[in-house]
Parts: sequence; structure tokens; C-alpha cells
Amino acid sequence: MDYRQKYLNFFASKGHAILPSASLIPENDPTTLFTGSGMQPMVPFLLGQKHPQGTRLADSQKCFRTGDIEEVGDNRHTTFFEMLGNWSLGDYFKQEQISWMWEFLTSEIGLDPQNLYFTCFRGNEELGIPRDTEAAELWQKLFAEKNIDAAIADFPETKGMQGGRIFYYSEKKNWWSRSGVPGNMPVGEPGGPDTEMFYDFGADRGLHENSDWAAEPCHVNCDCGRFVEIGNNVFMQYVKTENGFEQLPQKNVDFGGGLERLALAASNNPDIFQTDLFKELRESIEQLSGKKYGERSEETYAFRVVMDHMRAATFLICDGAIPSNKDQGYFTRRVIRRAVRMGHKLGIAQNFADSVSRAVIAAYAHAYPELKTNEEKIVADFVKEENKFRATLEKGLKVFEKQMEEIQSDVSRMTGQWLFDFYQNFGFPFELIIEELKTRGIKLTEDQISKMSGDFSSVFEEHKNLSRAGAEQKFKGGLGDHSDISVRYHTATHLLHATLKKVLGDHVQQKGSNITPERMRFDFSHTEKMTPEQIAEVERLINAAVVRDYPVSFEEMTVAAAQEKNAIGLFGDKYGEQVKVYTVGDPAQIAAADPTAPTYSREICGGPHVEHTGTMGTFKILKEEAVSAGVRRIKAVLE
Ligand code: ALA
Repeated sequence: MDYRQKYLNFFASKGHAILPSASLIPENDPTTLFTGSGMQPMVPFLLGQKHPQGTRLADSQKCFRTGDIEEVGDNRHTTFFEMLGNWSLGDYFKQEQISWMWEFLTSEIGLDPQNLYFTCFRGNEELGIPRDTEAAELWQKLFAEKNIDAAIADFPETKGMQGGRIFYYSEKKNWWSRSGVPGNMPVGEPGGPDTEMFYDFGADRGLHENSDWAAEPCHVNCDCGRFVEIGNNVFMQYVKTENGFEQLPQKNVDFGGGLERLALAASNNPDIFQTDLFKELRESIEQLSGKKYGERSEETYAFRVVMDHMRAATFLICDGAIPSNKDQGYFTRRVIRRAVRMGHKLGIAQNFADSVSRAVIAAYAHAYPELKTNEEKIVADFVKEENKFRATLEKGLKVFEKQMEEIQSDVSRMTGQWLFDFYQNFGFPFELIIEELKTRGIKLTEDQISKMSGDFSSVFEEHKNLSRAGAEQKFKGGLGDHSDISVRYHTATHLLHATLKKVLGDHVQQKGSNITPERMRFDFSHTEKMTPEQIAEVERLINAAVVRDYPVSFEEMTVAAAQEKNAIGLFGDKYGEQVKVYTVGDPAQIAAADPTAPTYSREICGGPHVEHTGTMGTFKILKEEAVSAGVRRIKAVLE
């Protein structure tokens, strides 16, 4: 059954505008490498900016969590997943959200209320945030309507279930912000208490109370596998300040629920990889390997890794994370190479990226049409990466085995130089080498690696930094930067786009954009290297616009009206019919100051932007280079 569509239809029937998923690679958000939750692209709107589609929004957002790569292999973790989301931007609040969720789970999906459990925020006096009795009582009332007497219990983490169905937990479990608990939140970040929904797969699946092998009493958050979280309703009504918390100007709801988890509950089977969502992919791998998923437990792990990683890589490449040695592309490389290695374990010796990525595209294109549009490019990039690794895989494994025999599993006999040479010669991603060692009983600690001779420790440092950058919650103070530096770079991106069109020609189109607190990067279509004169001219025009301190404003209009005004239609269909159009500079004022002034820009965009260009600083191009055939890249800074 198509639960994604069911969810979207349900929230459309409650007056929500349905938005297409944003890219897996966040645009204009320097705080993270990947989109890891549905609310990430919503931050400006949760903070009070007006959304062109209104105050009730819903979507199914593509997400990728790097932190979960090593968790994949059990029955419920994946790196890529779809997060169903609905938002109230200062519109409805607890009462509506809780009763709609109940209706959706019990009537639409048909979950038995007997299998549902809920958690709410216990409250914290120090933070000045009260206990969420309102949410707990709303759930209790809904249970009562089904003749279920749902007790509310506190301290389940030490006291166990206590016969309860609704539980209070601290901010460790029932508070949500992108940075986690209140203490980790940077000033300016929104957050709030939440109420989470759990499905019970049955006491026999996990620890349970009075079990004599249970070290702790079972409770819904104990992660024993019996209960699976199927969704989280965040009441996002606070913003972190220098002194604690303040109420946001509007009370928001941010709901997020994993589509796969919902499908699990609906099928009452706790294995994500057996759901319909993986059907095409599972069958494709079964055919290639001649093995059946679930038949032999020693193969299950490899099957799951291949399924998860191949699906993730297809979506990653589609959104522009081409396999490479750095940034997002490194993660695509890592998941593809690990999948190839695990496929090898399943006996798949031939190339399989082509058929497997096509199976993913076939299964998902109706929901994410960009997969179909980019199909040939996705498959080509995928196959290229597989070929690269396959060329060295067999030989690499032989060399590795030989070395293992030589050192006889004695880690002290392993040198950094050997590891480094192996890494250089055979294309095994760093983490995969560590994993190969681990499966042979050799555990390399960070400490051991940093003490090793040779260059391996420097590779290790590099990767540590990368995975830190890949984590979803990083760069403390990120949102402080978000509202300042990155906003300035965002406006500079608009100016650059418009100016390149003027200097190089109207064929220039944005192909990608990425902003960090240190610089901006802009990819655009153009076949030749820019001359030093062209670069100087682009800088001159942009800096002239900065000096003239043009106002930046926006209007909401239909896509058609935006096109009539010659707005650059970057996100043409992304925000549906009604769009926001940002204009840099008042046309009359620009014409009066300099009739040839080209830096006037008008572009469809969600924002945010600076109010005046004078606050941006001086624009400087650091580098202009090719990224692929017909696409150039500019790296620039504001000083
Ligand atoms: N933003 C919330 C989450 O990711 C809903 O859990």
C-alpha cells in the first residue's frame, strides 16, 4: 500500500499544501552536508518568515543520515529514508495535531490502538519549560474513546512500564531541536517539547518486565526492539536566547515520521527490508546473487547493507552528490564501495549498479520524478564508480588476506605505512578497511591509529573531520551563522547569477550552489574557461551593486507572473503555484544611477536575504574551474 500518498492525501484533506521534497543536499545551509530531517528546509519559516504556500504544509522529504551508516544491518536502520512531515506555522497546535495523528494511525492506516504507546515531556524547572500534561491528557482521552484505560506513568527509564501507555521522559527523549537537547542548542535555534508515537511489536520480541535477563526494565525508549518509534510531534514554540528560552512569535507544529517505520507498523513485521518499499530492490539482488533474502541469517546483514546503500546512492547521485573524495561525494563513494564489497560477499561478482539503480528508480520515480529525469546520468555515474572499485577489489582482497596471514591478527605488527599504501592502491574507503579488520577480529582504536608510523594517521584525521562535518548536528552556533554570514552569501549568489548572465550571456544557468560560513560555491552552465577580464568584470559589477546599497525585497506571485517579470526561474516547480520572487534593487533607482547597470536581479527563491546589499561586504572570486563538460564552478568570498 502507498502509505506516502495516504499520508499526503490525509493532510491535504485537512487543508495542507503539499510540497515537493527538497534536495538531499541543502541549498544555502552551511550547517550540514545533508538534509537529515523534514524540518531542515523549514527553519526560516518556523522562525517566522512567511511561507508562500501558507501556514499548513506537508511533504515527504528525502533524508540521509551519515551517522547511521554503521547501524545499517539490523532490522530497522537505514541511511536513506523518507520523512513524512506536516507543519503548522503559527496555525493549529496540540489539540488538532494529536487528534489528526490518532485518526491517521487508527482509521487511515488501521493500526490497533492496543499496540500504540506515547511519550511526552516531563518538564524542567531549570529551563522554565512546564510538563506537557496537555498532550498526555489528549492522548488519554482518545484511548478512552476506544474503551482503553490508558494510564500515564513517570520515570519509565528506571521504573519500567508500570502498566502505563503514556509516559513522561526528560528533555533527553522528549525535546527536539536540530542540535538535540536544550544545552546543545545555539542561540537563535528553534525547538520545543515533543510527543512521540510508538508501535508495540509484542513482548516476545524484546526484553520485558520481570524477564530475568533484562538488566533494566523494559520501557518504550529502551531500544530492545519491541517498540519502534513511528513519529514525532514537535511543539516548536521556543527559541534559544543568550539567557535561556523565549517563546517564538508563533507556535508551530513540526511532525516527522519515517515512512518505512510506518509501513512496518502497518504490516506488523519489524523488518524494514521486507516491506514493499524494498520489493523491487530485494528481488533484483536476489536475482543477481541467486540467494533469497531472509533464508540464511549469515547473509542477512550483507543483503541489508546492499539494499540500503544502493538505494541511498541512487538518490544521492540524483541530487548531485557524485562519487568523489570529498564533501558529500565521499559519502556516495563510501556507500557504493561498501555495497559492492557486501555484494561480493553474497557472491555477486559481476557489475550490478546498472540493474540495481534502475530497480530503485522504477520503484520511486512516481514519488520523486527527478529520478526518472536523471536516470541515464545516475546509472552512468553509478556504473563508473562501481567499475573503478571493481578494478582493484579482487586484488585488494588478496593482498589484504596475505597481510592478515603475515601479521597473524596481531595489531601491533600492522604498520601505518602498510595501511596507507593499501588505502592508496586499492581504493578501499578508510572506514571499509577498518571494517575489514574488525571482521577478522582486529579492532583498531583511534589511539592506535594516531600512534602509527606513516601517513595513515593523517588520512584518519581527514576522515574524522569529514564524518564530523557529515553528522547532522554539528558546527555549534551554526544557526547564528545561518542568519548572518550565510544570508549574505545567499544574496551574493543571486547577484553572481544575474551578473554572469550579463557578462557571459543568457545561456548561463545555475547548476548548483553551496554555502559554508567561509565561502560560496556556484556551478553554472558555460563551456569555456572565463578570461581574467571577465572575472574582473563580474567582481566589479557586483561590488558596484554593494556600494550602491540596493534594497532587497520580495513579492509573492504565481509562477506565470514571475515568468512575465523575467524572474530567473531556478526553483520553477519546487514551491508549486504561488512563489516568492526576490528583487535586488529598485529598477527605477538603478536606471537613474547607471542605465547600463546589470546587477539588478530578480529570482524565484524562498529566501532569506539581506535587506540591503551594502551589508554584504566586498565580493571576490577565488577560483574559476571546470566541474564537468559544460559546467563551470566559481568559488568566491565576501570580505
Ligand atoms: N523534526 C522532528 C524530527 O526529525 C519531527 O524528529
